[in-house]
Amino acid sequence: MVARRTLVSASILDADLADLARDSRRALRAGSDRLHLDVMDGHFVPNITFGPTVIKRLRRVGKQPFDAHLMISEPGRYMDQFIDAGCDSITFHVEVDEPIEPTLRKIRKAGRQAGLAVKPATPLSALEPYRELIDIVMVMTVEPGFGGQSFMTDAAGKILPAHDLFRGRAPELPGGQVHVDGGVNRKSAELCGAFAAEVLVVGSTLWKKDVDIAREIRLIKALADEGYENRAGMGKVAIPHDQWVTFATLPGPVGKRLLDSMEAAGIPVIGLRAARVPGSGSRRGYELLIPASCETSAIERFGRAREQALAEVRREPSVDPRAGRGGPA
Ligand code: DX5
Ligand code: ZN
Repeated sequence: MVARRTLVSASILDADLADLARDSRRALRAGSDRLHLDVMDGHFVPNITFGPTVIKRLRRVGKQPFDAHLMISEPGRYMDQFIDAGCDSITFHVEVDEPIEPTLRKIRKAGRQAGLAVKPATPLSALEPYRELIDIVMVMTVEPGFGGQSFMTDAAGKILPAHDLFRGRAPELPGGQVHVDGGVNRKSAELCGAFAAEVLVVGSTLWKKDVDIAREIRLIKALADEGYENRAGMGKVAIPHDQWVTFATLPGPVGKRLLDSMEAAGIPVIGLRAARVPGSGSRRGYELLIPASCETSAIERFGRAREQALAEVRREPSVDPRAGRGGPA
């Protein structure tokens, strides 16, 4: 069973901006570990969103950490307001044209996490001078300014080396976190995990019509943890996971047993903690996801075990088994 490691910070940029409190609450209740707040000034990026006043009003929606991502030209000028608004971390861009060190120091002095973000074209070396002053490196995998863009795989190449900025620092400094921001979804999550990203910023994919936000967050975390566990080739995933399909959905112990035996046989299987196995009362179960590319061999090797698991579950009238291939995960 892959250890849980990756955190998700839901971006509300593509949520319903007319009802940010409701959607922020929805994301946090659905399991997002943090809330990612994209502040844009229409100058540093060609888009305008919201400022510290809105963040201050949103603060009451939950206790989870608020991550402000400032895509603004003068972060120093407004820093007191973002601190006052209750942001737990404040990340601004290393590309700004003003002194960076005093602003980083001000954030830390206020007891918040200080972060620097790098655009896709900016090398990590730009952060070298600030390595002792930051707690977060935010690797942008899209050009900042808008949600819904495609993940830039070449920019993702900075995620793993970004961790080097936190190595060999003064011992009293806390460990740093690498956040990946832009185009993160179920297709790119595994790669981010393979590059050891700690926090995945996830935006538009959560706000698409009919998406089960809680399941999407669980799936993205599971895929990233899978990628981290494998870390084959540091960013190249072992088996091309074109698409994940549901192999079986089974109540707890039975599902766990089948998962462990499949995993022991080298089949990359993700045990997505289903909120509830339908028809099984309140029992939590496992939705076993496997890459579509291994489905045939999984059925050959574990089809019988699946049938036996179902028969075992059927013998316990209290649970109603559901298995078999759902559509794509
Ligand atoms: C883009 C923002 C990102 C964006 C993420 O400038 O910094 O946080 O909202 O949204 P998706 O996941 O849709 O790229
Ligand atoms: Zn962002």
